[in-house]
Amino acid sequence: MAAARLVVLVSGSGTNLQALLDAISEDPQYGAEIVAVGADRDEIAGLERAERAGLPTFVCKVKEYDSRDAWDAALADAVSAYEPDLVVSAGFMKIVGKEFLARFGGRFVNTHPALLPSFPGAHGVRDALAYGAKVTGCTVHFVDDGVDTGPIIAQGVVAVRDEDDEAALHERIKEVERQLLVDVVGRLARNGYSIEGRKVHVGEHGHR
Ligand code: GAR
Repeated sequence: MAAARLVVLVSGSGTNLQALLDAISEDPQYGAEIVAVGADRDEIAGLERAERAGLPTFVCKVKEYDSRDAWDAALADAVSAYEPDLVVSAGFMKIVGKEFLARFGGRFVNTHPALLPSFPGAHGVRDALAYGAKVTGCTVHFVDDGVDTGPIIAQGVVAVRDEDDEAALHERIKEVERQLLVDVVGRLARNGYSIEGRKVHVGEHGHR
């Protein structure tokens, strides 16, 4: 089967993107290829990583559109131009809207730095730490129209240490997260999947 086409969306350092790039270049059987990288801002390390890898990039900034809906439609158009099988939000710090979900729902994967449904939103690490949670981690899930509420594909657990601050905890979460994302995207691409309600099935019984 041809490699699944991925468009990856980033807003920051792009280490999850890098993990995918590395996995793809190291393993000819990985099953997916990145066809473009998009962002909501420029001058970020994530875009530099894409350029170094020789990939096309695009930037879609909210403030350049008259409305959030217009931005959402433009983002959907930009992504759609690369005909992706899967779209991966790897630290993309924007909530997409109706149009984007209408076109990519069921094939839009996000990674979040907490064990959903705990601590959704933009500060998953900070919120888990402030709550006093003893374990947290990361969740790879399909995106639906809520904030980090879509069907869960896989999760990784990280113990919180007494001495943790947000940066130290986030760094340990990201070590687990990068491996989890590489594993999940590869399995979705190679084995196919199905989504029934909140349950995601990956493997021989799935389909792409
Ligand atoms: C990741 O930890 C990801 O889970 C988080 O941003 C980080 C991006 O790191 N995303 C969110 O918080 C989304 N709500 P990276 O740019 O180094 O891949």
